[in-house]
Amino acid sequence: MQQSTTEAGKLQLGQAGPKSQELVKRKEKVVAPACTSLAPFMIAESRGTVVRDVDGNEYLDFTGGWGCLVVGHTHPKVVQAIRTQSEKYVHTDFSVIAYEPYIALAERLVQYAPGERPKRVAFFNSGAEAVENAVKIARYHTKRRAVVVFEGAFHGRTLLTMTMTHKASPYKAHFGPFAPDVYRVPFPNPYRTPLSFAEWETHLKALVAPDEIAAVVVEPIQGEGGFVVPTPEFLPKLREFCSQHGIVLVADEVQTGVGRTGTFFASEQFGIEPDLICLGKSLASGLPLSGVLGVAEVMDSVPDSAIGGTYVGNPIACAAGLAVLDVIEGERLLERARALGEKLEARFRAFQEEFPLVGDVRGLGAMRALELVKDRETKEPASEETAHIIQSALRRGVILAKAGLYGNVLRMLLPLVIADEELQRGLDVIEAALAEISSS
Ligand SMILES: Cc1ncc(COP(=O)(O)O)c(C=O)c1O
Repeated sequence: MQQSTTEAGKLQLGQAGPKSQELVKRKEKVVAPACTSLAPFMIAESRGTVVRDVDGNEYLDFTGGWGCLVVGHTHPKVVQAIRTQSEKYVHTDFSVIAYEPYIALAERLVQYAPGERPKRVAFFNSGAEAVENAVKIARYHTKRRAVVVFEGAFHGRTLLTMTMTHKASPYKAHFGPFAPDVYRVPFPNPYRTPLSFAEWETHLKALVAPDEIAAVVVEPIQGEGGFVVPTPEFLPKLREFCSQHGIVLVADEVQTGVGRTGTFFASEQFGIEPDLICLGKSLASGLPLSGVLGVAEVMDSVPDSAIGGTYVGNPIACAAGLAVLDVIEGERLLERARALGEKLEARFRAFQEEFPLVGDVRGLGAMRALELVKDRETKEPASEETAHIIQSALRRGVILAKAGLYGNVLRMLLPLVIADEELQRGLDVIEAALAEISSS
């Protein structure tokens, strides 16, 4: 990892160097204090998995901009697509004049969709907007109001999606009142709250009658909730339950989608065809683009102009999205996600053997995590230790993210284009950080 030195010769890795400090001072004067950043430094440029700060220090980015960079930072094909499209036209509003990149991206996404039923796509700007629109579509289609969500869920920060999100602080505290008709049920978490489908159904029916439910919204693997993979039978049974009761099954694949788990959609690995799938994050490599991909039968219920927005499906973002798909296909990134998953799993299991702090190792494909606990019996969350490891990794040149209701999960959102040598280096850093906290 490249490190620059201050005039006094002090290493700056993991802290703000002089140029970053200048920017921090400017930031503090004008930027709302709620807009904090994980890294103490400011970026100058990035490529692949590597980020260089304004003081010349280099870091490996294992957060991928919160999971937006399956093809890595500034992939040349994505940059070229943005440049080419921006020279043609930047904005029309699709509801004024339609354009080809929107249609071409929808065509490509429909081909990836699980199941045989015909599909349609509508684009939006953010993950939250995709989820919120999926709920609107489901409500319109069913003419019902209730929405079922899960413990540990994260769906966004708008009023409806904040209501659907579980964690109180920092997402919900003092932001009420919340949207009505949202019902929260347990998520079958094999490590903490194992639950059979029958038990789950009992919980649900005590809360709300199935024939009043418009949608069940589920992350096939919980993202912010801590990379929780449900028991294998849960999603197929949920699919059956929704079909039986005329409920729209919405898979929120904002974090799991676009190849991270080793298939384009995580839903595929559970053998389910959701009625609606929400996409975002990596869809356009970090440009603001999200989408709802759904079965025509449901998507076609909503009338002219009932969903949309000024910037939705921006042409530059759609062009970037097409380039992302080209890269995923051309560089065989789905295979790469599976291979990365195997490497991560092997190394994480070794960490689990060595460090009692590692309570659980889990994930699918490259979407892998370590859950840290103070005690393997009580499973008391090791939240402070997780925060310490993130700081320790930063000082060693790796940017890591946490997750989970208790902030005790280290989650990997690394770019799938990461080189083996970079992966090895990053994992060595995680091991060193685990060793440091375990011996203190
Ligand atoms: C599963 C899931 N849904 C929705 C969202 C919200 O996306 P956005 O932040 O783009 O609104 C996120 C963001 O982390 C997410 O992980």
